[in-house]
Amino acid sequence: MRLQGKEIVLGVTGSIAAYKAVELLRELVKAGASVKVVLTQSAQRFVTPLTFATLSRQEVMTDLFTLDYDAKIRHIAATEGADLLLVAPATANTIGKFARGLADDLLTNLFLASTRPVLLAPAMDADMFRHPAVQENLERLRSWGVRVVGPAEGELASGMWGPGRLAEISEILRAVTEILQPVHDLAGEVVLVTAGPTHEPIDPVRYLTNRSSGKMGYALAQEAADRGAHTILVSGPTALAAPRGIEVIQVQTALQMRAAILDHLPKATIVLKAAAVSDYRLSKPSKSKLKKSDESHFLELVPNPDILREIGPQKGARIVVGFAAETGDLVRHAERKLKEKNLDLIVANDVTWEGAGFSHDTNHVIMIDLYGEIEEVPLSPKRHVARRILDRVVRLQKKRESRG
Ligand code: CTP
Repeated sequence: MRLQGKEIVLGVTGSIAAYKAVELLRELVKAGASVKVVLTQSAQRFVTPLTFATLSRQEVMTDLFTLDYDAKIRHIAATEGADLLLVAPATANTIGKFARGLADDLLTNLFLASTRPVLLAPAMDADMFRHPAVQENLERLRSWGVRVVGPAEGELASGMWGPGRLAEISEILRAVTEILQPVHDLAGEVVLVTAGPTHEPIDPVRYLTNRSSGKMGYALAQEAADRGAHTILVSGPTALAAPRGIEVIQVQTALQMRAAILDHLPKATIVLKAAAVSDYRLSKPSKSKLKKSDESHFLELVPNPDILREIGPQKGARIVVGFAAETGDLVRHAERKLKEKNLDLIVANDVTWEGAGFSHDTNHVIMIDLYGEIEEVPLSPKRHVARRILDRVVRLQKKRESRG
């Protein structure tokens, strides 16, 4: 009964996935939580209060305007006493209202009045989810500390394929447990993470870069911080919001990234090098904008320092993890890089695999450690992959300690 004694307010909004909230409620109750359910008006078109009242064995909260003053206060107080406000499914409409501070029903009032942790599980059509309005609203909510689980990619009610499915119930339960019973197995560690691409200037308006979005590195940084580590994130240019509770150092070029890493390396106990560092930079970036002409133009590239290779020989007791993005012969390339760069662990993916690698919210990786042990993490959200990588790091640390 891992959620014994925990009080959760479960908000259900008007998505076709509302029926899945019934299963979620059952699982939360089974895990020992006391759950008060709030149904929005549109949720009640998909599911009935009676179902939730029966399963939660509690009155279901519905319309704010049918309540007398005392009842309103009681209901708002209900979230204050709760350990978590969980909204699953969360529609684009509710997410928008939360992000803009609108309060036209009970759930939006509870959100504004609550000082407790909030977890959202969005569910909507893929095009809606991708719309900049929804993306911006989610980023805004994240920047206030609201956690978001999912959505998953898959077939949607509209017949479309893409991101927008409510996260799996098991994934939502894991996110709930993480918030209510955080694992602090990285307490005392200093984790240095790199993420994103680098920009190597060609002239004041152009640069060389790659397709890295930074999502894997940011997921690792958030996971490390949530597990109790002091986390330092050295980030190349990305469109991602700075994660909660993390020291972020923004850089542009490989040389700046190198300087930031070497600066923070002495205090780091774990190094996770997820950044896709440009292997080359221009020998002489132009100070003024290059003008077009009819002639061919040649850019002279010089190699950037391989930061990971440089860390290898001076790693001492640190656990150093490298990443490799390949397009074939994955294990062979990964094993070679593991040895050449003196790593403890290499996380490799084939960027041609469906849903894996650059820009996706999911990844599919293999991990190879210095003892030759290989582990595959099937296609799953990057946060889940981050958890598996850090589980592995913790195991490697224990192994090293036990071997003295
Ligand atoms: N890396 C680094 N500094 C560089 C290049 C890469 O620290 N200048 C790190 C990355 O952060 C990542 C790993 O090395 O952890 C990737 O190594 P590798 O695959 O060797 O990089 P590539 O340049 O892609 O290698 P190759 O072109 O040989 O496939």
